[in-house]
Amino acid sequence: MTGVCSTTNLDLVKSWAGEVVDYTREDFSKAGRVHDVVFDTVGESGLSRSLKSLKRGGFYVRVGGSGRMSAIVGGMLRGMWVSITGTAKVIIGVAAAAAGDQSFLKGLIEAESSGR
Ligand SMILES: NC(=O)c1ccc[n+]([C@@H]2O[C@H](COP(=O)([O-])OP(=O)(O)OC[C@H]3O[C@@H](n4cnc5c(N)ncnc54)[C@H](OP(=O)(O)O)[C@@H]3O)[C@@H](O)[C@H]2O)c1
Repeated sequence: MTGVCSTTNLDLVKSWAGEVVDYTREDFSKAGRVHDVVFDTVGESGLSRSLKSLKRGGFYVRVGGSGRMSAIVGGMLRGMWVSITGTAKVIIGVAAAAAGDQSFLKGLIEAESSGR
């Protein structure tokens, strides 16, 4: 797993992600790592850049981001095309929060840390 954050959070993110990229100094898409999933909670990853870091058929999931409606709709249409061609499965939308989500994620992180 590779986490992307700014300089001040490098140690924290590295403690659970293993690998870390400082977005203020390095472009994650040029780090030479390929992943099954790119998960963007900020909206700064960009579909084109992220595809360079995704294996074919991997998942691009974006739950954060803002911008003009035309850009959002354009991104969704492009995502549909990328999904249709099989390059990647693109999921872009607003995340629905539910009670228990944080504890579920905490459990996944703890299971990963202990190698379960
Ligand atoms: N909060 C809301 O209610 C809300 C509602 C709808 C949509 N959104 C959208 O959701 C996104 C996140 O919102 P937020 O309220 O959590 O924003 P936020 O409090 O400003 O946090 C943004 C986080 O993203 C990090 N970040 C910035 N640029 C990055 C990059 N290029 N790569 C990796 N990390 C980066 C920042 O790290 P550093 O501070 O270390 O630079 C910070 O930790 C935004 O796009 C926002 O428009 C938020």
